[in-house]
Amino acid sequence: MEWRILNEQMLHGGDYNPDQWLDRPDILEKDIELMKQSHVNAASVGIFAWAALEPEEGRYEFGWLEKVIDNLYNNGIYTVLATPSGARPIWMAKNHPEVLRVGPDLVRNQFGGRHNHCYTSPYYRQKVWDMDKKLSENFGKHPGVILWHISNEFGGECYCPLCQQEFRNWLRRKYGTIEKLNHQWWTAFWSHTYNSFDQIEPPLMRGEHSVHGLVLDWQRFVTDRTVDFCDWEKQAIRAGGSDVPVTTNLMGFYNGLNYFKFRDVLDIASWDNYPFWHTNPEDESDVAITAAATHDLMRCIKQEPFLLMESVPGVTNWHPVCRMKKPGMHELSSLQAVAHGSNSVQYFQWRKSRGSSEKFHGAVVGHDGTANTRVFREVAAVGSRLKKLPEVCKTVNQPEVAIIYDWENRWALDQMQGLLNGGGLDVKSRPGDPKQYGPTVLDHYSAFWRMGIPVDIIDMSCDFSNYKLVVAPMLYMQREGIVEKLRTFVEKGGTLVGTYWSGLVNENDLCFQSFAPYGMQDVFGLYSEEIDALYPNQTNTMKMNGSGEEYTLRDMCDVVHVSTAQVLGTYQSDYYAGYPALTLNYFGFGQAYYLCARAGRDFYKDFYEEIAEDLQLEKALDNASLPEGVTANLRKNEEEEIAIVQNFNAHPVTVSLENAVTDIETGEYTTHIQLPPYGIRFLLKEDIM
Ligand code: GLA
Ligand code: ZN
Repeated sequence: MEWRILNEQMLHGGDYNPDQWLDRPDILEKDIELMKQSHVNAASVGIFAWAALEPEEGRYEFGWLEKVIDNLYNNGIYTVLATPSGARPIWMAKNHPEVLRVGPDLVRNQFGGRHNHCYTSPYYRQKVWDMDKKLSENFGKHPGVILWHISNEFGGECYCPLCQQEFRNWLRRKYGTIEKLNHQWWTAFWSHTYNSFDQIEPPLMRGEHSVHGLVLDWQRFVTDRTVDFCDWEKQAIRAGGSDVPVTTNLMGFYNGLNYFKFRDVLDIASWDNYPFWHTNPEDESDVAITAAATHDLMRCIKQEPFLLMESVPGVTNWHPVCRMKKPGMHELSSLQAVAHGSNSVQYFQWRKSRGSSEKFHGAVVGHDGTANTRVFREVAAVGSRLKKLPEVCKTVNQPEVAIIYDWENRWALDQMQGLLNGGGLDVKSRPGDPKQYGPTVLDHYSAFWRMGIPVDIIDMSCDFSNYKLVVAPMLYMQREGIVEKLRTFVEKGGTLVGTYWSGLVNENDLCFQSFAPYGMQDVFGLYSEEIDALYPNQTNTMKMNGSGEEYTLRDMCDVVHVSTAQVLGTYQSDYYAGYPALTLNYFGFGQAYYLCARAGRDFYKDFYEEIAEDLQLEKALDNASLPEGVTANLRKNEEEEIAIVQNFNAHPVTVSLENAVTDIETGEYTTHIQLPPYGIRFLLKEDIM
C-alpha cells in the first residue's frame, strides 16, 4: 500500500466538479487561485463524471482529467480520485436497460437520478471494471493521487431477477438445506414452508414480510452485495496497477447497510456529516452529541483515524429548514470531526453548480465566484488552523468505554411486532425507529459526552477485550458468539451495563426457549419474567435505594426476579411497584448492571458519573469539571496526549484545570482554558514520557 500524505497532514478540500465547467477555462483557473487562498490541499475529483470520461460507449476521454490532476498537483493540491459508478450516462441505460434498478414493486426504473443501478448486472460490473482499471492505469501512479474514492454513498437495493437469483444462492450457501432454512425462519407459521430455494422471493412490495428471518437475511444480503460491489471496484483499481489506499463515503447511522462489513474492503473509513445545527440555538448539545456519536461510530469501522469526506460550508439544500451555520459554528463543527479522529475536513462542494437539483446547496465558492463571503472566509480559517495541526494526524483515539450499536439488532427490532409499534396516543411519536434503539444508544452516550470521556461505538462483531466498560442497550438479538464474548469480558474483570429487552432472539430472529436475557442470567444475577410497554404519556418512577433519588422511566418496563443481583433502585408504581428497576451483580472478576426500563438523560448522567468514578475511567481532561454544552476528546500516541476541548455554547466559557496544558496553535501554557462562543482548542497535555 502506498500511503502518501494521509496521516502526515490534515486534508482540507472537497468535492470538485471541473467536468461541469470544461467550457470555462477561466473558472477552472480561478478555482486554483481560490483553493490556494482557502488553504485547500485535497480535491475529490470525478465523483459523477462518467459522461465526461466516456461520452459514448467505448470512447474514453481522459485528457481533461489529466490536465486537472496535473494542474492541481503543480499548485500543491492533491487529488482524491473517484470512480464514477455513483451515476451512469444515458447511453448505458438505453443500450443496456439491465443496469437500471428494479424496485420492490418489480418495476424497472427509468433513466434518472443517481445510485440507480443494479450491483449484479454483469454488463454494469464489466463497464465499471473497465472504467476503474483504466483510471487506475492512467492516474494510479500519479504523485498527486493520494486516495481512491470508490463510487459515492452506496445505498439502496435492486430486486431484479439477477439480484433475486444471487439472493437465493446466498441463502443456499448460508443454510445448505431448505429444511434448515425453514426451521430457522419458522416458516410452518401460516403455512409458508418452502419446498426449494428456487421458490424464495425477496420481501417484495406485495410479497412476504411476515417471515422475519427472510426480511433480515435480505437486509444482510443487500449489505453483502454492496460490499462485494465495492470490493469489485477495488480489485479493478488494483488490477490497473495502483496501490493507493481506497475509501468510500459512508453515511453515519444510515439504516440500509451494516457498515461494519466494509471493514476489510476499505483501507480507510470516511463519511459525510450534515448535522442539524441551531434546531435549538439555546442548547446545541443534542445535535453535538448526535454528531459526536456518529463520528465515533464511523471511526470504529476501522478503529483508526478516518476522513470527514463531506460536510457543508454554509448550509445544505435538503434539511427541512436550511438554517445557515452561525458565525463560528463551521469551525467548531469541522474540528469536532478532528477531535473524534478525523484526519480531514472536506466539503460537499467546492463550487455551486449553476443548474439542477443542488444549485443552492452550500459550497465554498458561491454563484458570485469570489472569496468575498463569510462562508469562504470561515472555510479559509478552518484551512489555516488545520495546517497547524499535523501532529494531531499521528495520534489515535483509544477509549476505555464502548457502547454497542448493532445494525442487525436494529433491523430485528424495527420489524419486531410488539411492545411499541410506533404510534400509541401520538401517532407521529416514533417515526422509523419504533423501539427507539438509536435514540437510546445516544441517551447512554450523552452521559460520557458531558464528562469528556471518550467512547467507541462498536457492534457485536468487534473485540471487547481492551475496554473497561461495555454498555449494551437493548441487545434484543444475540448474534453468534456474543454471549460468550460478553461472559468472558465480565468474567475477566470488565463492567457491563445491560438493559431491558436483551437476549430474546438468535441471529435469525428465532426466539430462545428460555427466560431473557438468554445465556446471561447468571452474569446479571436475574431473569426477566415479562415486560410492560407504556403509552407515550405514561411514566413510572425509579427510586434509588441508597440516595433516595428519583428518576422518570418510560416506554418499556421489565419485570425481573433477582437471584444473586443486588437491587439498586425500584419501581414506584403500577403492579410492579417495589420490583427491581436497577441491579448490580458480581460475576467472575467483573460486574454487570441491569437497567429494567428506559430512563432519561438525567439518570444516565448520574449513573455513569458514579461508574466513571468507580472505574477511574479516563477523561480527556483530568479533574476538570466541564460547563454545560462543553466536552473534550483525547487523541494520543506513545509520546503525547492531545485533549480537544469544545464549547457548543453561543457564549464564552472558561475551563479550569489542575495541570497546565500547552495550546498547540498558540503556544499558550495555561491552567485556565478560555473558549470563545463555539470555540475549540487543541491542548497538549504534560509529556507522558
Ligand atoms: C451527499 C452526496 C453529495 C451531495 C450531498 C448533499 O452527501 O454524496 O453528492 O448530494 O449529499 O448534501
Ligand atoms: Zn439487480
